[in-house]
Amino acid sequence: MQEGSFTTSKRSNQHTVRIEPWGESDQILLKKLLGDPAMTEHLGGPESDEQLAERHARYLRLADTGRDRMFKIIYEATGEAIGSVGYWERTWQGEQVYEIGWSVLPAFQGQGIASAATAQALGQARLDGLHRFVHAFPSVDNPPSNAICRKLGFTLVEECEFEYPKGHFMRCNDWRLDLFARN
Ligand SMILES: CC(C)(COP(=O)(O)OP(=O)(O)OC[C@H]1O[C@@H](n2cnc3c(N)ncnc32)[C@H](O)[C@@H]1OP(=O)(O)O)[C@@H](O)C(=O)NCCC(=O)NCCS
Repeated sequence: MQEGSFTTSKRSNQHTVRIEPWGESDQILLKKLLGDPAMTEHLGGPESDEQLAERHARYLRLADTGRDRMFKIIYEATGEAIGSVGYWERTWQGEQVYEIGWSVLPAFQGQGIASAATAQALGQARLDGLHRFVHAFPSVDNPPSNAICRKLGFTLVEECEFEYPKGHFMRCNDWRLDLFARN
């Protein structure tokens, strides 16, 4: 009974978020996500205000390309923006693929929110239909992100040296999901 209730409450938590395209008012969210030392421990450290402003402008322009996409994660109960998830094209080992990344504010972590929002983003990538493979490159020292990949059906390809952000190399896992595979 106890175990059953836990599962149910976890599952219902997974429906408490939705994703929406990045918007004009989301620069404050970006600062909380990528301007914070704890949040960027596995992402090369916090970005400066100037870098954040450039990134925000870039995210806003993505809507025009119709290819790369960045979303904010909205907590349905309050309408607050509490995280981000997005995917973008990159060349990886000679192939055009998507890379995907996610981030959830500390107060909302541990409730299945990143997993639920990432599942929604993958659904959109499938609809876009532009690339067969989506890769994620979490640091080997980032257990929650590696758990998300495993949970969402990614296959671990290999450990690799990965540059993110530019000039900062870290040991990452290369996880890959086939968007065209039948479930
Ligand atoms: C990574 C991050 C997005 C996770 O967000 P979240 O909403 O807490 O993630 P979820 O709750 O959906 O899932 C986390 C999973 O990791 C698991 N997990 C958490 N800590 C873990 C640990 N130390 N070891 C193994 N698994 C762990 C959880 O149990 C959960 O799996 P479950 O649902 O099967 O129980 C969040 O910690 C974050 O924003 N970190 C900073 C930014 C970042 O590192 N982004 C990733 C870049 S690749």
